[in-house]
Amino acid sequence: MVSVQALLLATLALTADAITSPDRSRPLSPQLKAKLDVGFSTAVREKRVPGITALALNRDGSIIYNNSFGTVNIDDPSSAPVTANTKMAIASMTKAVVSVAALQLVEQKKLNLDDPIEKYIPSWANLSVITGFSPSGEPILRPPKFKAKVIHLLTHTAGPAYFFDNENIKKWQTWVAKQPSPPPQPLAADPGTGWFYGPGTATLGHVIEAISGLRLDVYLNKHIFGPLGISPNTTGIVKPDMWSHFRSPDGTIVPDTSAPVQPPDDPFGDAYLISTITDYANFLLPLINDGRHPKSDVQILSPETAKKYLFTDLYPKSLTAPGFTPGKKEAGPGLGNWISSDPVLTNNYTFFPGIKKGWSSLWLLNKQDLPGRRRAMSGTWAGIMNTYYWVDDRSGKLGIVMTSLLPFLDGEVLKLFDLLEEVVYDC
Ligand SMILES: *[C@@H]1O[C@H](CO)[C@@H](O)[C@H](O)[C@H]1NC(C)=O
Ligand SMILES: *[C@@H]1O[C@H](CO)[C@@H](O)[C@H](O)[C@H]1NC(C)=O
Ligand SMILES: *[C@@H]1O[C@H](CO)[C@@H](O)[C@H](O)[C@H]1NC(C)=O
Ligand SMILES: *[C@@H]1O[C@H](CO)[C@@H](O)[C@H](O)[C@H]1NC(C)=O
Repeated sequence: MVSVQALLLATLALTADAITSPDRSRPLSPQLKAKLDVGFSTAVREKRVPGITALALNRDGSIIYNNSFGTVNIDDPSSAPVTANTKMAIASMTKAVVSVAALQLVEQKKLNLDDPIEKYIPSWANLSVITGFSPSGEPILRPPKFKAKVIHLLTHTAGPAYFFDNENIKKWQTWVAKQPSPPPQPLAADPGTGWFYGPGTATLGHVIEAISGLRLDVYLNKHIFGPLGISPNTTGIVKPDMWSHFRSPDGTIVPDTSAPVQPPDDPFGDAYLISTITDYANFLLPLINDGRHPKSDVQILSPETAKKYLFTDLYPKSLTAPGFTPGKKEAGPGLGNWISSDPVLTNNYTFFPGIKKGWSSLWLLNKQDLPGRRRAMSGTWAGIMNTYYWVDDRSGKLGIVMTSLLPFLDGEVLKLFDLLEEVVYDC
């Protein structure tokens, strides 16, 4: 006889399963597919965005939506069409890959995230914090109050910031250009005291190089891309196919005057990757499958590491992030609240207004469900050239949109990224 308890447990298991993995793997209805096709193709035809590619997958890798629009140069209809195999600069989408590499070393007990960074990169012992500028225009520097730890590099709380999202660093870059022997860039704040988005994963890349003895791109090819079947000819230090575009102040989009150039030789861990949307999806898929690629069964992280680091909020609990109070307007810089210090490169933006936010070892988390959209604890991040993705471990879905346009956080591209999500969760 089946006990009541066993029945109850079975029911609970079924319910939990239905909630956590509704892997319905259904393709879009023709109506919903058309809604996306029309949305994207109209935006491209009206030149509201350059050529663009979009992909949404179920957890098992089956396709929800896969389509591309326009050409690699907005002004040249005879240039190559954008496809799912067009190589584009994915910039800060490099960061998640470098962080996965660091987690592999944590698994192998070769890296301790609580170690001070200076244990691996001695020059970090010497970094100063910038607090402002004297009346004569000299930077005011002081030693940091705390030692930065490796974990801070993954959560963007170590202190390095970019010149395009920090006024002091922007002014410092102008100042340093005039110095005969330029000192290293200071930290924007004391380590562990706030979210200062910046090149921290470039340092993390050097940590990986110091531990593995391999140059970062070689490490990533050997331990992440190679095993996943991602070719160094389509993702890595390769020539992009897509031209860069700029939205001018009057709103029109112009291609960069020069054709796509060879990327730099240096595999800087915060932004060096050129990639295709297909390859990046193959990198993201294992991350919503406990570290294992659903098609090849290749494991790039253990299930324990995936559980502990990918969709768990690691943002220091002692810090408050704006956006915690529903209905209240967010003010000032902070987690997910993006303030531009360079309008040519980026707009201002608030991610998930009124929604609790966190940061895992890889990406920004929405700590509450987005109604009709991604579930709570989904990850999202982006590259400055207007490339975006979300990964929803609970629903088992991911979506990516890629183009090549500055400034970052472009309203028209974000509208299309939103449309993709809206339609994907409507099916
Ligand atoms: C998406 O479609 C393109 C061709 O239209 C194809 O080359 C690519 O492999 C498809 N993506 C996936 C994930 O199947
Ligand atoms: C720290 O800075 C001093 C003075 O600039 C320099 O002599 C020293 O080599 C630096 N140490 C490290 C570990 O970079
Ligand atoms: C990359 O391209 C080169 C030159 O075309 C080729 O010899 C090599 O086999 C390719 N590598 C892979 C992994 O596809
Ligand atoms: C971003 O916001 C800051 C502070 O509110 C403002 O000074 C700046 O002009 C804004 N920049 C852009 C590009 O919107």
